[in-house]
Amino acid sequence: MQYVPISTSPALRMTRSGIRAVMELALADPEAIRLEIGEPDTPTPAHVLDAVAADARSGHTGYTASGGTAELRAALAAKLAAANGLVVDPESIVVTHGAMNGITLLLQALLGPGDELLLPDPEFPNWRMAAMVAGTEVGTYPARAEDGFIPRLADIEASLTPATKAILVNSPNNPTGAVYPAELLAGIVELARAHDLWVISDECYEAITFDAEHVSPARFDTDGRVLTVFSFSKTHAMTGWRLGYAVLPTAELAETVAQIAEATIACPSSISQRAGLAAVRGSQDHVARAVAAYRRRRDESVAALTAAGVRCSVPDGAFYLMVDVAELFPDAQVLAVRLLAEEHVAVAPGEAFGAGGAGWVRLSLASGPEALRTGISRLVAFLERERASREGAPASARGALTV
Ligand SMILES: Cc1ncc(COP(=O)(O)O)c(C=O)c1O
Repeated sequence: MQYVPISTSPALRMTRSGIRAVMELALADPEAIRLEIGEPDTPTPAHVLDAVAADARSGHTGYTASGGTAELRAALAAKLAAANGLVVDPESIVVTHGAMNGITLLLQALLGPGDELLLPDPEFPNWRMAAMVAGTEVGTYPARAEDGFIPRLADIEASLTPATKAILVNSPNNPTGAVYPAELLAGIVELARAHDLWVISDECYEAITFDAEHVSPARFDTDGRVLTVFSFSKTHAMTGWRLGYAVLPTAELAETVAQIAEATIACPSSISQRAGLAAVRGSQDHVARAVAAYRRRRDESVAALTAAGVRCSVPDGAFYLMVDVAELFPDAQVLAVRLLAEEHVAVAPGEAFGAGGAGWVRLSLASGPEALRTGISRLVAFLERERASREGAPASARGALTV
């Protein structure tokens, strides 16, 4: 009998996300305060649930076109014009099984083996996983803490290689909360034009900004090279409905992407599409309420950390706060494991987001106000105890922490 390897698929190069590793430990701890996950703490709005219940009864339960229903695509085109300043043909929109499915589909459509996708560092780890599924290579460009995690155009240009085919941009950003200024986004599109590259813009957090305006880079696209992915997950508290959409420069490209979708998901869930329709057409008050709540939590959390002498980012958007623990924990994974074991607080170690995240931890402002307050006070107490114990310890023992 002859044995063959199960597969030579590049997808098998995928490694486990460092956020998942903490999440799994946290799931085994019933007392854990969960600050590691990025999921709204509010339910899907009632008007969406009501519409969906009626729609399910009236038969919206079958397959739809692979790229989504004409009705939802038309409603999304209206939303894109009103909220994003993008005039888009509904035929250029592909409704997807969440934004992540959208990104994977775009990579499968645009990039081949040996082509390189450039990601920001720190990065949302699932982009790299999507690149592996699509069989493409990954490079990074830095978004430096000293610049408020806003990347420099010169750094992006210096990170290009002959293999680079696409630059991924994510503003508002996960994990840093940075919101990129319009001039930078225009500059990135211009850079892509000069080097004949695609720009993939992940705008999952488009609706969550505090002191900065969200701008879609597609506004600066003059020759059809910017592709944008949106999501219902965070804006409408619909993470489990798995609904997003990709906006392509042409209907032909949308058709190609929809065909790849057919091979993987057949079509997005019909009932989730009805939920999406109710969410885009109905009242947006829940969005304003959620953003106000995240802003209050940001202000309170930044004040508590700053008062305790702990450096943190001041996010302009999304719902994440980065806390600098590098002085005591240059490897924040060590802190994450100990904080969970000793204080029952789960945080995402920065290393899960790449080299640029080392020595930071990410807290989710979507975790709920009480969880955040308690989690931050335990984190501060933990750091203080750690500092005191190291100051009291002989010099040789300092920094010699093990998990
Ligand atoms: C930057 C970013 N992109 C994409 C996603 C995934 O969104 P979806 O639930 O629509 O797949 C997330 C979720 O955390 C995210 O943070």
